[in-house]
Amino acid sequence: MTERSTRAWLTPEIRQQAEQLIARMSLDEKVGQMTQYDWGFNPINPETGVSVRDLLRDEIRQGRVGSIFNLSGAEEANELQRLIAEHTEHRIPLLIGRDVIHGYKTVFPIPLAQASAWNPALAYRTAEAASRESMADGVAWVFAPMIDVSRDPRWGRIAESIGEDPLLTSQYSRAWVEGSQVADAPGQATASCPKHYAGYGLAEAGRDYNTVDLSDRELRDVILPPFREAVEAGALSIMASFNEINGIPACANEYLLKTILRDEWGFEGIVASDYNALQELIVHGVAGSEEEACELAVLAGCDMDMHSGFYMRHLPKLVREGRVPASVVDTSVLRILAVKIKLGLLEQPFVEVPSVEAAEAARVQFTALAREAAQQSIVLLRNEAQVLPLQKSGSSIAVIGPFAHNRKDPLGCWAFDGKPEDVVSLLDGIRHAVGSSAAVHYAEGCSVSVDTMAASGLTEANIEQVLEAARQSDVVVLALGESLEMSGESRSRTSLDLPGAQRQLVEAVAALGKPIVAVLMSGRPLALPWLEQYASAIMQAWHLGVQSGNAIADVLFGDYNPSGRLPVTVPRSVGQVPIYYYRKKTGRPPGGVYSSYYIDSTTEPLYPFGYGLSYTAFQYSAITVSDASIGVAGKSSVSVTVTNTGDTAGTEIVQCYIRDEVASVTQPLKKLIGFCRLQLAPGESGYAAFEIGERQLAILDKDMKRTVEPGRFTIWVGPNASSGDAVSIVVE
Ligand code: GLC
Repeated sequence: MTERSTRAWLTPEIRQQAEQLIARMSLDEKVGQMTQYDWGFNPINPETGVSVRDLLRDEIRQGRVGSIFNLSGAEEANELQRLIAEHTEHRIPLLIGRDVIHGYKTVFPIPLAQASAWNPALAYRTAEAASRESMADGVAWVFAPMIDVSRDPRWGRIAESIGEDPLLTSQYSRAWVEGSQVADAPGQATASCPKHYAGYGLAEAGRDYNTVDLSDRELRDVILPPFREAVEAGALSIMASFNEINGIPACANEYLLKTILRDEWGFEGIVASDYNALQELIVHGVAGSEEEACELAVLAGCDMDMHSGFYMRHLPKLVREGRVPASVVDTSVLRILAVKIKLGLLEQPFVEVPSVEAAEAARVQFTALAREAAQQSIVLLRNEAQVLPLQKSGSSIAVIGPFAHNRKDPLGCWAFDGKPEDVVSLLDGIRHAVGSSAAVHYAEGCSVSVDTMAASGLTEANIEQVLEAARQSDVVVLALGESLEMSGESRSRTSLDLPGAQRQLVEAVAALGKPIVAVLMSGRPLALPWLEQYASAIMQAWHLGVQSGNAIADVLFGDYNPSGRLPVTVPRSVGQVPIYYYRKKTGRPPGGVYSSYYIDSTTEPLYPFGYGLSYTAFQYSAITVSDASIGVAGKSSVSVTVTNTGDTAGTEIVQCYIRDEVASVTQPLKKLIGFCRLQLAPGESGYAAFEIGERQLAILDKDMKRTVEPGRFTIWVGPNASSGDAVSIVVE
C-alpha cells in the first residue's frame, strides 16, 4: 500500500497557544469564533435606517464574530480589525475571507481553462500570485480551490472546476493549496479552502444545488481523491457543500466530516459550511428548527457557520442544556484559533494599505503570468487546411462577434475584484499583434447576455455591418461563446448551444465563402457539431482573464503554438450528458440494436477528453514496458519516445491510461494514471515514462478494500483518451 501522509501543520506550540487562549474565553466568545458573516450582505432597515453592517460592527465589538468575508479592501479590513483590538478582551483578529477562485485583481483564466494547460506547476504560480494580491488587501482566507469533479456541462460551476478527471483535479488541488499557502512564514500566506466537500459537481440534471446520490464507491473513486490530496498538502480548511450526500446534507454529514475527513485522513483544519447552509438543513427537511440545524451541524463536525447566525443564536444554549458537549465547541474553536495563529494574525492583524503605485506595480507584475496562463489554456480543436496560424502582414482580418471587442466577459465567473478596463479584448490583441502590417475590420454582429440568450434574430443593419467587415477581409475571426453570467454559481443551462443569435451570425458570414476561424469564449464546453461545416478552425478559449486578447492573438498568429488539451469531454449534444471518458463497458457496449446506444446519435463525443491540436506534429514510438509480468506488490514502467516531426517548436501532453481487464468489480474502460509535458524543438525527441505500481494498479475491491488484484492490465500512452499505443502487464 502506498504510504500516504497528511502534512502536519498544527504543531504542539500552536496547539498550546490556542488552548491557553481557549481556557480564558467565555462560551459566547468561543461560539463567536465559529461565526462568520458576509459583509457584502448589507440591507438597511427602512424603519430604523440601521444597516446590517451597523449591527455586525456591534457583534464584532462584543467578540461574537470570528470571520468576515467580502470586504472591499485593506482599509475596511483594518477598520474591522481595530474594532477587535479596541473593544474585545482577547483581541482575536477576524479571519477575513474572499472567493479568490482564479485571481484577485489580476484575473487569470477560469479554473476549467487553467486545467486545459495540464500544468499544475503553472497553477501553483497563479495561486501564489492571487494569494499575494489578496493578502495585500487583508484577505487571509481564500475560498479556493474549487475541486469538484464535474462531468456535466449543463452545470454552471463546471467553469470553476478542473473538469471530469480525478487525477488531473488532484494534481491541481495540491498545486493550488500549496500555491495559496505558499510560505510558512506568518503573514506570508493565505489559508486555502478546498471546496465543495463533497460531490457537488454530480448534481442531478446538471442543475445547481440539486440532489446528489452516489455510491460510496463512486464517492471514494472519483469525488474524494482531490480532497484527500488537498488535505495531504496541508490545506488549512475545507468547505462543506450545499448538497446532500446519500440523504444527508454535507454540513451535517458525520460520515464525510468525521469518519473520512478526521478519522481516515487526519485533517486538522477548519470545516466551514457553505453560505447559509445551516439554514438550508431546514429547507432540506433534515432539521425542524434553527436549534436542531445548529445541533446537527456542530455535532457532525462543522466548525464554522457561514452567515446563518445559527451558532451564535443557539449554540451557547445547547451547550448549557447539555445537548452539545462543551468539548465539541472547544475542538472547533481550537481549529479556528490554530489557523489564525498559523497565519500570524495574532501578531499582525493589520495590513499596510497599498499605495496606488504599489497596487499598480503588483498588478503589472502578474500580467506576464496572466498571459502565459491564458496561452496555455487555449485548446485548438480544428485546423483544416492549416488555416492557422494567420499571417500578420499583408492580410486583411475581420474580427466579428459579440465577444470580439468585449472586455467584461473574458473575466469569467467569480472575478469580482477584476476590472474590465484591465482586460485585453480579442480585437485589442489582434491589433497589438499586427500593428500597421494588416488591415483589421470589426463588427459586433449581436450582443449576448442572459437577457438576450433566447433571441434568435439579427437585425438587417447588424447583418450588413458584419458582411461589410467580412467582405473587406481575407479571413474572418468569429468570437463566439457565452457571457460570464452564463456560468458559475446558479448558472445551469439546459442547452449547450451558442446562446442568442450567434448561429445566424455564423451562417450569414459563412455565405460569403471566406475562411472562418471560430474562437469559443465560454465557461463550459459547448456542443456545436454544426460549426465544423462553417469554420475551418475552431479554438476553445474559455474565459481567459485579463490577458485574453493577447493570448488568443499569440495563438492565432503562431507566436504561441497551442498546447492545451481538453479537461472535459465535449459532447455532440446535451442529450449525451453526462458523457465522460472513464465510462464503464457495461454488459452491452455501444454497438447496434439491443446494445447501450442511441437510435438517433452516436455515443461518441464531439471531442474526447485530453484532445487538442498543435501547429506541429508529434510522432510516438512504440510503447515499451520494463516488466510485462509483476507480482501484486511489484512495479513496472511504460515509456515512449515522442518526436516533434514538424517545423515548429511545440509542447505535447503525453497521457497514460490504464484498464484492469477483469476485476472483482467493474472497472472504467480507461483511467488516467499519469501525464507529462514534453516541450520539443523541431526534430527533437523526448522520453516519457510512467511508473506502474500499487498506486496505479490498486482498486477498491468488492469489499471496498484497496487491493491490487492479479490479472491483466492494458496500458495506453498517447495524445488523448481516444488514441495511443497499448501494452499489457500481467499481475501474478
Ligand atoms: C457561495 C458558494 C461558495 C462560496 C461562498 C461564499 O454560495 O457556493 O463557493 O465560497 O458562497 O461566497
